[in-house]
Amino acid sequence: MLIRMATVDDVDAINGIYNHYVLTAVCTFHLEPVTHEERLAWLRAHGERHPVIVAEIDGHVVGWASLSHYRERPAYRNTAENSVYVHPDHHGKGIGKRLMMDLLNQARAIGYHTILAGATASETASIKLHESLGFTQVARLKEVGYKFDRWHDVLFLQLMLE
Ligand SMILES: CC(C)(COP(=O)(O)OP(=O)(O)OC[C@H]1O[C@@H](n2cnc3c(N)ncnc32)[C@H](O)[C@@H]1OP(=O)(O)O)[C@@H](O)C(=O)NCCC(=O)NCCS
Repeated sequence: MLIRMATVDDVDAINGIYNHYVLTAVCTFHLEPVTHEERLAWLRAHGERHPVIVAEIDGHVVGWASLSHYRERPAYRNTAENSVYVHPDHHGKGIGKRLMMDLLNQARAIGYHTILAGATASETASIKLHESLGFTQVARLKEVGYKFDRWHDVLFLQLMLE
């Protein structure tokens, strides 16, 4: 498996993985698939401090991860929020963990102080993945999401890097 920086050629593969979860799961609170143009703009807005990486097996993108602004106001500049998505055919093979380890190494190199992950409270895989990397649960936001005809709590998990 190769972990590398994402390029504009990966936009459809990134979206293919993500939009599967938009339509089937509550791990993302998008309700409609993200378009090619929206994802391209998202990728282009991710500069050096906000890497987007992909995991590739035999030339196929099987997962991706990113660092994004937690909030844009400048005092938050040493904090980032991460995302990680693995193709459903490739769960449980260590791909999510490899992506996260690479992303956290990049976060340390950039100099981030802390990383946050928002996880829907029912999403055990995401919570366990982050906890396996040292993230701890620091907040539970009650019923902030409404998808598939029900309310969802969101957990914030946090890793201090320095
Ligand atoms: C969460 C997700 C990225 C995990 O990816 P993955 O490649 O299947 O996970 P890995 O095989 O690398 O497993 C990493 C760790 O998470 C744990 N884990 C993964 N899936 C799990 C599950 N279904 N139940 C419990 N623990 C799980 C593993 O036990 C492993 O811990 P370990 O290294 O201590 O053994 C994947 O399930 C996914 O894409 N889910 C949908 C998207 C999502 O929820 N993203 C997070 C939002 S930011």
